[in-house]
Amino acid sequence: MKKITNYINENKDRFLAELFDLIRIPSVSAKEENKGDMLKMAEHLRKSLLDAGAEKAEIYSTAGHPVLFAEKILSKDLPTILVYGHYDVQPAEPLELWISPPFGPEIRDGRIYGRGADDDKGQLFMHVKAFELMTRTGILPCNVKFMIEGEEEVGSVNLERFCIDHREMLKADVILISDTTMISVDSPSITSGLRGLSYMQVEVTGPDRDLHSGLYGGAVVNPCNVLCDMISSLKDKNGRITIPGFYDDVSECSAEERNEMAGRPYNGDDFRKSVGVDALSGEKGYSETEWIGIRPTLDVNGLWGGYMGEGAKTILPSKAFAKISMRLVPYQDAVKISELFKKHFLSLAPAGVKVKAEYLHGGQAYVSPLDTPEYLAAAQAVELSSGKKPIPVRSGGSIPIVSVFEKVLGIKSILLGFGLESDAIHSPNENYPLVNFFRGIETIPYYYIKYTELKKG
Ligand code: BES
Ligand code: MN
Ligand code: MN
Repeated sequence: MKKITNYINENKDRFLAELFDLIRIPSVSAKEENKGDMLKMAEHLRKSLLDAGAEKAEIYSTAGHPVLFAEKILSKDLPTILVYGHYDVQPAEPLELWISPPFGPEIRDGRIYGRGADDDKGQLFMHVKAFELMTRTGILPCNVKFMIEGEEEVGSVNLERFCIDHREMLKADVILISDTTMISVDSPSITSGLRGLSYMQVEVTGPDRDLHSGLYGGAVVNPCNVLCDMISSLKDKNGRITIPGFYDDVSECSAEERNEMAGRPYNGDDFRKSVGVDALSGEKGYSETEWIGIRPTLDVNGLWGGYMGEGAKTILPSKAFAKISMRLVPYQDAVKISELFKKHFLSLAPAGVKVKAEYLHGGQAYVSPLDTPEYLAAAQAVELSSGKKPIPVRSGGSIPIVSVFEKVLGIKSILLGFGLESDAIHSPNENYPLVNFFRGIETIPYYYIKYTELKKG
């Protein structure tokens, strides 16, 4: 194990310089203008993987952004770990809130700042460097494959097809992913579940053009007002979602699991402070951590319509829009939920407006069993690098492709994330602490070693 820590200590500065090069490429999957950067990014990573010791690394074009696949096969008798990650990032806006430029990485107070510093360039790059470490020091114990996509932040819409088309190539014993959080470096945790997602866009149309709000207001139905009413009726006073059938397939957690959750380190004051609010609100009958970890929810992500320019313009708008996401829990089906939503939402429309609802993307929740060699190896690896037994934690976030991997490839995923809640992923000033980055690079080889040992029995 000394080999591992020595190699990291000797190469720290180079690892960081290389990560900075990745962050400098603005691989924003949502934007047409960055299309060329996506390919550049895949190319760059291809070279990194070849340098790190991959014997094959290829870029596959898809209907969207390219997928990178690489591998190093030692023997067909050894287990195979398939590493998944994403090289795309969320848009950096609002730019004026960044202290240093989003694509001009910088270290301040022991943290790497930049879009993708954590999600997922920083976490993904830990795997590339851990792989390099294992090949260069001659300790790689098993076969490795990498599948790195560029569309996670826009719903991984083309990756299911890729998996179906390349089942044979993607054969592996476990999928290893670092794209989640841990409680802290001092109380390490492993993500044992992810929420699913059903993302909708709705449109309410009233009059066939914007009207004078004095000449028509009070009589012509206002789509903005209507949309607000419709949205506010989607939750009742107990914080329950009112869509008929919404909770039908929700799996309730056992009392045992809820007790265990209640015992995990959580400080409500710190949490509220960390997001700048003085109170939280959620579903009656559940705790604050349960609201995020084990209960489904519904949120407006964006809401617009009418005049949004400077000053006042007196109009009664023709249209109003909203983007609404529902975070789902195990056994809720994203497509079924989107249909229930649509049916209910359309039924709420009063006379005088037309309503549309469209499903943009989504995916199923995921739960990781805790008694498998795949999970035990992760727990042992974290214990080796941190000196503490990690606790399993159900995350509120989503990586919809994880359930697709299980369905299409028949492979379970391990969510060995090293991010912190304070990393501000998707927000301005996204960052990743140096300790987490290097802790990840150290823990990953332990995972390979422990997993190979456990599989050999
Ligand atoms: N890495 C995140 C998901 C995540 C972060 C899970 C932290 C658990 C802890 C991923 O890149 C992400 O942002 N997923 C999206 C879903 C996607 C369909 C846009 C999300 O959760 O909003
Ligand atoms: Mn991510
Ligand atoms: Mn993300």
